[in-house]
Amino acid sequence: MNGRDGGFRGATGTAAVLTGLGAWLPPRRVTNDDLCARLDTSDEWIRERIGIAERRLAAPDVSTGDMAVEAAARAMASAGVDAVDALLVATSSPDHPCPATAPWVAHRLGLPQVAAFDIAAGCSGFVHACAVAAGLIASGAARRVLVVGAETMSAMVDPDDRATAPIFGDGAGAAVFEADSPHAEGALGPVVWGSDGSLADAIVVPAGGARGRHERAGAPQGDFFVHMRGNEVFRHAVRRMTHAAREAAARAGWRIDEVDRLIAHQANLRINLAVADALGIPADQVPSNIRDVGNTAAASVPLLLADACDKGELKPGHKVLLVSFGSGLAWAATTLVWPAGLAPDCENPAPPLFQGPPMTFEQVKEILTTKGGLPAAPIAPDASLASANIDSMALVVLSMQVEEGTGVEVSEDVLAQAATVAELAELVGRYAEPRA
Ligand code: UT7
Repeated sequence: MNGRDGGFRGATGTAAVLTGLGAWLPPRRVTNDDLCARLDTSDEWIRERIGIAERRLAAPDVSTGDMAVEAAARAMASAGVDAVDALLVATSSPDHPCPATAPWVAHRLGLPQVAAFDIAAGCSGFVHACAVAAGLIASGAARRVLVVGAETMSAMVDPDDRATAPIFGDGAGAAVFEADSPHAEGALGPVVWGSDGSLADAIVVPAGGARGRHERAGAPQGDFFVHMRGNEVFRHAVRRMTHAAREAAARAGWRIDEVDRLIAHQANLRINLAVADALGIPADQVPSNIRDVGNTAAASVPLLLADACDKGELKPGHKVLLVSFGSGLAWAATTLVWPAGLAPDCENPAPPLFQGPPMTFEQVKEILTTKGGLPAAPIAPDASLASANIDSMALVVLSMQVEEGTGVEVSEDVLAQAATVAELAELVGRYAEPRA
């Protein structure tokens, strides 16, 4: 049940306490000017109407699951834990319609047989998943839960649609919650959440699901992209987020003027300023990273938490109000007092994922030439993978050799993101370094 004096409590009287945060963004930056080359839009319009200057887009062979692994490993490192009881992946861009992405993420993290499932609540998914984690912990079903918000929105956005392409970005954020007292700093407070399925078509990917399956073969390509009635969604977002945030603060026993920070889903800067204004929270207490990463849907709240904590905008003891909103329509809000000692693990410098000895450029080159059969001459630090003849088969050979030598599993999909051979060597070395 929701306790008024803090903490989502159930049979055990325990709360879900935030102990770790991780974030990962794909390296490819796409500026508004980059988009203007293709779309009838402008840098000025996107900045003024949405608040975005650039977004990160995943390489074509990098999936939601891949990014979830990166963020989750960082969150676990941040919490100093190497095992969890449950793993939730909030996403609206899963790797496949079936199965869920979470079990594969758990497998890649070396968490065999852990309970793992996806939460589909659109852009509100991460806060929904936090609420589910709180419930699992309160009920005694789990004592430590890893919650990931991860999205490859670029896989669902029509690059020629100016109504959606400027908005969305890719990335992943993650948090670890552990059972503790409802009065501990970092304890999730009461949850206020809801949905309105009468507006299911306000943000929708029409094809690819069970509805309309008989026309699947003939469905226009555009039906596999996200369609959004932006202006209508905007109005509902302001109303629903304002109400949910106000109610969550009240149920936590907080007056609005006691709230130190409003952490809101990063859909549109104007939405969040309107919500803050309606609540009476000063704009300088509303951290935002939409300018740099765009709307990353279910990843936006954990990415913002990690970013704001990293920059010192979230300080120990701050009363923090979380609120999110998105397709469904669905919304959720909750509270927590920011805990001391939380050190988010963000993308740079990327922490090692797996244990093993360090690898050098020379070692990587030797594997590629001796085991991969590649000519040595083109394998120079500045060479692109293509010009060094490093194709997907060579990356498989490389990843298998690393695995054999170190016991470390390295995905060739992740390695393929390297722009140069030097970057490839750095990536392999990072994966194979001992865990800090
Ligand atoms: O994260 C999940 C939840 N999602 C949201 O909460 C998104 C909510 N919606 C929004 O953020 C905004 O509605 C948008 C950013 C999607 C659109 O902004 P808007 O201020 O609501 O614009 P609008 O749709 O009312 O369109 C205003 C004008 C129109 O032109 P006319 O009819 O006034 O001549 C549009 O055609 O802006 C035009 N327009 C654009 N112009 C340049 C629409 N998109 C663009 C564009 N560049 N990219």
